[in-house]
Amino acid sequence: MKYKNIIVEKDGSVGIIKMNRPKALNALNMETIVELLDAVNSLSTDESTKAAVITGEGKAFIAGADIKEMKDMTSLEAKEFAAMGHQLMHAIEASSVPFIAAVNGFALGGGCELMMACDICLASDKAVLGQPEIGLGIHPGFGGTQRLPRHIGLLKAKELLLTGRNVKAEEARGLGLVNKIVDSESLMDETMKLAQSIAGKSSVQIGFIKELVNKGIHIDLKSACDLEISYFSTSFSTHDQKEGMTAFVEKRKPAFRDK
Ligand code: CAA
Repeated sequence: MKYKNIIVEKDGSVGIIKMNRPKALNALNMETIVELLDAVNSLSTDESTKAAVITGEGKAFIAGADIKEMKDMTSLEAKEFAAMGHQLMHAIEASSVPFIAAVNGFALGGGCELMMACDICLASDKAVLGQPEIGLGIHPGFGGTQRLPRHIGLLKAKELLLTGRNVKAEEARGLGLVNKIVDSESLMDETMKLAQSIAGKSSVQIGFIKELVNKGIHIDLKSACDLEISYFSTSFSTHDQKEGMTAFVEKRKPAFRDK
Protein backbone atom coordinates (compact mmCIF):
# COMPACT_ATOMS: atom_id res chain seq x y z
CA MET A 1 0.00 0.00 0.00
CA LYS A 2 1.21 3.53 -0.78
CA TYR A 3 1.09 5.73 2.32
CA LYS A 4 0.04 9.40 2.31
CA ASN A 5 -0.24 10.07 6.03
CA ILE A 6 2.52 7.96 7.54
CA ILE A 7 6.14 7.11 6.75
CA VAL A 8 7.39 3.58 7.36
CA GLU A 9 11.10 2.84 7.60
CA LYS A 10 13.37 0.05 8.80
CA ASP A 11 16.56 0.46 10.83
CA GLY A 12 18.04 -3.04 11.01
CA SER A 13 15.40 -5.21 12.65
CA VAL A 14 13.43 -2.24 14.03
CA GLY A 15 10.44 -0.89 12.10
CA ILE A 16 9.60 2.80 12.47
CA ILE A 17 6.17 4.27 11.78
CA LYS A 18 6.14 8.05 11.69
CA MET A 19 2.81 9.86 11.76
CA ASN A 20 3.04 12.42 8.98
CA ARG A 21 0.02 14.76 9.02
CA PRO A 22 1.70 17.52 11.02
CA LYS A 23 -0.68 20.24 9.77
CA ALA A 24 -3.56 18.37 11.42
CA LEU A 25 -1.36 17.44 14.41
CA ASN A 26 -1.35 13.85 13.07
CA ALA A 27 -5.07 13.46 13.77
CA LEU A 28 -6.45 10.03 12.89
CA ASN A 29 -8.84 10.23 9.96
CA MET A 30 -10.15 7.03 8.40
CA GLU A 31 -7.49 7.08 5.67
CA THR A 32 -4.69 7.31 8.25
CA ILE A 33 -6.17 4.50 10.34
CA VAL A 34 -6.33 2.24 7.27
CA GLU A 35 -2.68 3.05 6.46
CA LEU A 36 -1.61 2.43 10.06
CA LEU A 37 -3.42 -0.91 10.14
CA ASP A 38 -1.66 -1.95 6.94
CA ALA A 39 1.73 -0.85 8.30
CA VAL A 40 1.23 -2.61 11.65
CA ASN A 41 0.16 -5.83 9.90
CA SER A 42 3.07 -5.64 7.43
CA LEU A 43 5.66 -5.16 10.20
CA SER A 44 4.03 -7.90 12.28
CA THR A 45 4.25 -10.45 9.47
CA ASP A 46 7.76 -9.45 8.37
CA GLU A 47 10.14 -11.99 9.96
CA SER A 48 13.01 -9.50 9.90
CA THR A 49 11.14 -7.05 12.18
CA LYS A 50 11.75 -7.76 15.87
CA ALA A 51 10.55 -4.46 17.39
CA ALA A 52 8.70 -1.39 16.16
CA VAL A 53 8.48 2.27 17.08
CA ILE A 54 5.58 4.68 16.52
CA THR A 55 6.25 8.41 16.70
CA GLY A 56 4.94 11.67 15.26
CA GLU A 57 6.27 14.39 12.98
CA GLY A 58 5.99 17.93 14.34
CA LYS A 59 4.62 18.95 17.72
CA ALA A 60 2.14 16.10 18.11
CA PHE A 61 2.33 12.36 18.51
CA ILE A 62 -1.38 12.15 17.59
CA ALA A 63 -3.86 14.85 18.70
CA GLY A 64 -6.76 12.40 18.54
CA ALA A 65 -9.27 11.14 16.07
CA ASP A 66 -9.98 13.68 13.31
CA ILE A 67 -12.65 15.97 14.73
CA LYS A 68 -13.30 17.63 11.37
CA GLU A 69 -14.01 14.24 9.79
CA MET A 70 -16.15 13.08 12.74
CA LYS A 71 -18.21 16.26 13.09
CA ASP A 72 -21.00 15.31 10.65
CA MET A 73 -20.86 11.53 11.01
CA THR A 74 -24.08 9.56 11.41
CA SER A 75 -24.29 6.93 14.16
CA LEU A 76 -23.63 4.22 11.60
CA GLU A 77 -20.55 6.00 10.27
CA ALA A 78 -19.33 6.57 13.84
CA LYS A 79 -19.76 2.85 14.53
CA GLU A 80 -17.66 1.92 11.50
CA PHE A 81 -15.04 4.52 12.45
CA ALA A 82 -14.79 3.28 16.06
CA ALA A 83 -14.66 -0.35 14.89
CA MET A 84 -11.76 0.51 12.57
CA GLY A 85 -9.93 2.32 15.39
CA HIS A 86 -10.43 -0.69 17.66
CA GLN A 87 -9.16 -3.00 14.92
CA LEU A 88 -5.96 -0.95 14.76
CA MET A 89 -5.42 -0.98 18.54
CA HIS A 90 -6.09 -4.73 18.61
CA ALA A 91 -3.60 -5.33 15.77
CA ILE A 92 -0.88 -3.53 17.76
CA GLU A 93 -1.69 -5.54 20.90
CA ALA A 94 -2.06 -8.89 19.12
CA SER A 95 1.19 -8.48 17.16
CA SER A 96 4.09 -10.64 18.32
CA VAL A 97 6.28 -7.60 17.62
CA PRO A 98 6.59 -5.21 20.57
CA PHE A 99 5.54 -1.65 19.72
CA ILE A 100 7.22 1.25 21.50
CA ALA A 101 5.45 4.62 21.49
CA ALA A 102 7.90 7.53 21.29
CA VAL A 103 5.52 10.25 22.41
CA ASN A 104 7.02 13.44 21.04
CA GLY A 105 4.14 15.82 21.87
CA PHE A 106 0.34 15.79 22.11
CA ALA A 107 -1.10 12.30 22.62
CA LEU A 108 -4.77 13.10 23.08
CA GLY A 109 -7.95 11.09 22.57
CA GLY A 110 -7.19 8.48 19.90
CA GLY A 111 -3.48 9.33 20.29
CA CYS A 112 -3.51 8.41 23.96
CA GLU A 113 -5.53 5.32 23.08
CA LEU A 114 -2.98 4.25 20.47
CA MET A 115 -0.17 4.90 22.93
CA MET A 116 -1.88 2.66 25.49
CA ALA A 117 -2.16 -0.16 22.94
CA CYS A 118 1.64 -0.06 22.61
CA ASP A 119 3.86 -2.16 24.88
CA ILE A 120 6.28 0.47 26.15
CA CYS A 121 5.94 4.28 26.12
CA LEU A 122 8.77 6.81 26.24
CA ALA A 123 7.60 10.41 26.42
CA SER A 124 9.42 13.62 25.60
CA ASP A 125 9.41 16.31 28.27
CA LYS A 126 7.03 18.16 25.92
CA ALA A 127 4.40 15.41 25.87
CA VAL A 128 0.79 16.16 26.86
CA LEU A 129 -1.53 13.20 27.29
CA GLY A 130 -5.22 12.78 27.96
CA GLN A 131 -8.71 11.82 26.95
CA PRO A 132 -10.42 15.19 26.38
CA GLU A 133 -13.39 13.70 24.47
CA ILE A 134 -15.97 14.69 27.09
CA GLY A 135 -15.36 18.31 26.11
CA LEU A 136 -16.49 17.43 22.57
CA GLY A 137 -19.73 15.87 23.78
CA ILE A 138 -18.50 12.29 23.25
CA HIS A 139 -16.40 9.75 25.12
CA PRO A 140 -13.30 7.86 23.92
CA GLY A 141 -14.11 5.54 21.04
CA PHE A 142 -10.85 3.67 20.41
CA GLY A 143 -10.65 1.88 23.78
CA GLY A 144 -9.86 4.71 26.20
CA THR A 145 -12.68 3.90 28.64
CA GLN A 146 -11.31 0.35 28.86
CA ARG A 147 -7.51 0.65 28.59
CA LEU A 148 -7.09 3.76 30.76
CA PRO A 149 -8.48 2.09 33.94
CA ARG A 150 -6.41 -1.00 33.18
CA HIS A 151 -3.30 1.20 32.95
CA ILE A 152 -3.80 3.64 35.84
CA GLY A 153 -6.63 2.23 37.98
CA LEU A 154 -10.32 3.07 38.25
CA LEU A 155 -10.18 6.22 40.38
CA LYS A 156 -7.62 8.15 38.34
CA ALA A 157 -9.06 6.92 35.05
CA LYS A 158 -12.55 8.11 35.95
CA GLU A 159 -11.15 11.47 37.03
CA LEU A 160 -9.37 12.00 33.71
CA LEU A 161 -12.25 10.67 31.60
CA LEU A 162 -14.92 12.69 33.41
CA THR A 163 -13.01 15.97 33.53
CA GLY A 164 -11.19 15.63 30.19
CA ARG A 165 -8.14 17.08 31.94
CA ASN A 166 -4.86 16.58 30.05
CA VAL A 167 -1.66 15.75 31.91
CA LYS A 168 1.96 16.68 31.24
CA ALA A 169 4.76 14.12 30.98
CA GLU A 170 5.75 14.21 34.67
CA GLU A 171 2.22 13.53 35.91
CA ALA A 172 1.74 10.85 33.24
CA ARG A 173 4.82 9.05 34.51
CA GLY A 174 3.53 9.24 38.07
CA LEU A 175 0.26 7.72 36.93
CA GLY A 176 2.07 4.82 35.25
CA LEU A 177 0.95 5.93 31.81
CA VAL A 178 4.50 6.24 30.43
CA ASN A 179 7.67 4.35 31.31
CA LYS A 180 10.16 7.19 31.15
CA ILE A 181 10.56 10.87 30.26
CA VAL A 182 13.35 11.79 27.87
CA ASP A 183 14.65 15.15 26.56
CA SER A 184 12.83 15.94 23.34
CA GLU A 185 16.15 16.03 21.40
CA SER A 186 17.14 12.56 22.66
CA LEU A 187 13.73 10.89 22.38
CA MET A 188 14.34 9.01 19.13
CA ASP A 189 17.91 8.00 20.05
CA GLU A 190 16.78 6.62 23.41
CA THR A 191 13.78 4.89 21.86
CA MET A 192 15.93 3.28 19.15
CA LYS A 193 18.44 2.09 21.77
CA LEU A 194 15.61 0.47 23.70
CA ALA A 195 14.14 -1.07 20.54
CA GLN A 196 17.55 -2.43 19.44
CA SER A 197 18.15 -3.90 22.88
CA ILE A 198 14.83 -5.80 22.67
CA ALA A 199 15.55 -6.78 19.05
CA GLY A 200 18.79 -8.42 20.21
CA LYS A 201 16.81 -11.01 22.16
CA SER A 202 15.08 -14.12 20.83
CA SER A 203 11.99 -13.20 18.84
CA VAL A 204 10.37 -16.43 20.09
CA GLN A 205 10.57 -15.14 23.66
CA ILE A 206 9.65 -11.57 22.68
CA GLY A 207 6.41 -12.94 21.20
CA PHE A 208 5.77 -15.36 24.09
CA ILE A 209 6.21 -12.65 26.74
CA LYS A 210 3.96 -10.18 24.94
CA GLU A 211 1.26 -12.82 24.43
CA LEU A 212 1.47 -14.14 28.01
CA VAL A 213 1.13 -10.66 29.52
CA ASN A 214 -1.60 -9.46 27.16
CA LYS A 215 -3.65 -12.68 27.36
CA GLY A 216 -3.00 -13.30 31.05
CA ILE A 217 -4.26 -9.92 32.19
CA HIS A 218 -7.75 -10.73 30.88
CA ILE A 219 -8.17 -14.20 32.38
CA ASP A 220 -8.12 -15.61 35.92
CA LEU A 221 -4.73 -16.02 37.59
CA LYS A 222 -4.79 -19.83 37.67
CA SER A 223 -5.52 -20.10 33.92
CA ALA A 224 -2.89 -17.43 33.21
CA CYS A 225 -0.27 -19.32 35.24
CA ASP A 226 -1.19 -22.56 33.42
CA LEU A 227 -0.57 -20.69 30.17
CA GLU A 228 2.84 -19.65 31.46
CA ILE A 229 3.71 -23.28 32.31
CA SER A 230 2.71 -24.29 28.79
CA TYR A 231 4.84 -21.61 27.07
CA PHE A 232 7.71 -22.25 29.50
CA SER A 233 7.80 -25.92 28.58
CA THR A 234 7.55 -25.10 24.85
CA SER A 235 10.55 -22.80 25.26
CA PHE A 236 12.69 -25.83 26.10
CA SER A 237 12.19 -27.19 22.60
CA THR A 238 13.68 -24.04 21.02
CA HIS A 239 17.21 -23.46 19.78
CA ASP A 240 17.35 -20.16 21.64
CA GLN A 241 16.77 -21.76 25.07
CA LYS A 242 19.64 -24.21 24.51
CA GLU A 243 21.84 -21.42 23.14
CA GLY A 244 20.94 -18.91 25.89
CA MET A 245 21.74 -21.34 28.71
CA THR A 246 24.83 -22.81 27.02
CA ALA A 247 26.18 -19.29 26.45
CA PHE A 248 25.67 -18.52 30.15
CA VAL A 249 27.60 -21.61 31.20
CA GLU A 250 30.35 -20.87 28.65
CA LYS A 251 30.51 -17.23 29.79
CA ARG A 252 29.84 -15.75 26.32
CA LYS A 253 27.10 -13.77 24.60
CA PRO A 254 24.26 -15.89 23.21
CA ALA A 255 23.78 -16.01 19.44
CA PHE A 256 20.02 -16.31 19.15
CA ARG A 257 18.52 -17.57 15.91
CA ASP A 258 14.88 -16.67 16.64
CA LYS A 259 13.80 -20.31 16.68
N1 CAA B 1 -8.77 16.60 14.65
C1 CAA B 1 -8.70 17.39 13.58
N2 CAA B 1 -7.88 18.46 13.49
C2 CAA B 1 -7.10 18.70 14.56
C3 CAA B 1 -7.13 17.92 15.72
C4 CAA B 1 -8.01 16.81 15.74
N3 CAA B 1 -8.09 15.97 16.77
N4 CAA B 1 -6.27 18.45 16.62
C5 CAA B 1 -5.71 19.51 16.03
N5 CAA B 1 -6.21 19.68 14.78
C6 CAA B 1 -5.89 20.72 13.80
C7 CAA B 1 -6.49 22.06 14.22
O1 CAA B 1 -7.84 22.13 13.84
C8 CAA B 1 -5.61 23.01 13.45
O2 CAA B 1 -6.01 23.01 12.11
P1 CAA B 1 -6.20 24.43 11.31
O3 CAA B 1 -4.79 24.97 11.23
O4 CAA B 1 -6.75 24.01 10.00
O5 CAA B 1 -7.10 25.27 12.15
C9 CAA B 1 -4.24 22.33 13.51
O6 CAA B 1 -4.49 20.95 13.80
C10 CAA B 1 -3.36 22.88 14.61
O7 CAA B 1 -4.07 22.79 15.83
P2 CAA B 1 -4.23 24.04 16.84
O8 CAA B 1 -4.15 25.33 16.10
O9 CAA B 1 -5.43 23.78 17.68
O10 CAA B 1 -2.87 23.85 17.69
P3 CAA B 1 -2.62 24.33 19.18
O11 CAA B 1 -1.17 24.13 19.43
O12 CAA B 1 -3.21 25.67 19.44
O13 CAA B 1 -3.44 23.29 20.11
C11 CAA B 1 -4.17 21.09 20.82
C12 CAA B 1 -3.04 21.95 20.16
C13 CAA B 1 -4.31 21.47 22.29
C14 CAA B 1 -3.74 19.64 20.69
C15 CAA B 1 -5.50 21.36 20.07
O14 CAA B 1 -5.28 21.24 18.67
C16 CAA B 1 -6.59 20.40 20.45
O15 CAA B 1 -7.19 20.53 21.49
N6 CAA B 1 -6.86 19.38 19.57
C17 CAA B 1 -7.94 18.46 19.79
C18 CAA B 1 -7.59 17.44 20.85
C19 CAA B 1 -8.78 16.50 21.08
O16 CAA B 1 -9.83 16.91 21.52
N7 CAA B 1 -8.58 15.18 20.79
C20 CAA B 1 -9.61 14.21 20.93
C21 CAA B 1 -10.28 13.97 19.61
S1 CAA B 1 -11.72 12.97 19.74
C22 CAA B 1 -11.15 11.38 19.78
O17 CAA B 1 -9.98 11.10 19.73
C23 CAA B 1 -12.25 10.35 19.88
C24 CAA B 1 -11.84 8.94 19.93
O18 CAA B 1 -11.40 8.43 20.91
C25 CAA B 1 -12.09 8.09 18.77
